[in-house]
Amino acid sequence: MFGFLKKDKVTESPAVVPAHIGVIMDGNGRWAKKRMQPRVFGHKAGMDALRTVAIAASDMGVKALTVYAFSTENWTRPDQEVKFIMNLPVEFYDKYVPELHQKNMKIQMIGETDRLPNQTFEALKKAEKLTKLNTGLILNFALNYGGRAEITQAVKLIAQDVLDAKVNPGDITEELIGEYLFTGHLPKTLRDPDLIIRTSGELRLSNFLPWQAAYSELYFTDVLWPDFDEEALKEAIAEFNRRNRRFGGV
Ligand code: FPP
Repeated sequence: MFGFLKKDKVTESPAVVPAHIGVIMDGNGRWAKKRMQPRVFGHKAGMDALRTVAIAASDMGVKALTVYAFSTENWTRPDQEVKFIMNLPVEFYDKYVPELHQKNMKIQMIGETDRLPNQTFEALKKAEKLTKLNTGLILNFALNYGGRAEITQAVKLIAQDVLDAKVNPGDITEELIGEYLFTGHLPKTLRDPDLIIRTSGELRLSNFLPWQAAYSELYFTDVLWPDFDEEALKEAIAEFNRRNRRFGGV
């Protein structure tokens, strides 16, 4: 399930590479403010950081990278900022998707994506379609994503399948619930992140993958997302390696 990172500059020993990393990309606004720029300047830099980190993760042998790009709560931001963020997938498609496709990455999305503006949804759909057959890193965009909403829709779908006699209540297991979550499209061994990174010093999960994070290692850093790079990712992986994951055992 895990790969090995050959050169780990921090520990100088082979490091285990988390198969699935989740990232809460926080701090774009503060990064822009520090430069006396509008918040959207930070989001643009955040998009560039995403490209850098996706390539670094892919090179290190990470199998899935789920990035929290827009939460169901983010709609309360000023209209102009929401509009700007919603246009980023369009820009990302034109600017970076060809390169990521060449690097064998498979782009996917989770969230209530059918409620995204048309052009946002279409850009992601095009990226999914283009990279569908790729076998490398799964770059999984969480857009209009909320963990509780995800669990709620899974419960509704399961209830409907029980009513339709497709599922027997006695057969409802954690694994079955996992299939009804948005991450159900990921290969079984990759559904739960091994490591969740949150940038910018906030110590919360903010409704990001609450079911899937049950056993994830959590890594918080003060680095603002636009400054997060390959070295910062290696540092997070080195910290992951210093943890002793017991999954409730001894
Ligand atoms: C949180 O920082 C960041 C976001 C809500 C947007 C994240 C989006 C990106 C990094 C770009 C993603 C790229 C694509 C292609 C969708 P914040 O604005 O809350 O920062 P602050 O806490 O400093 O104000």
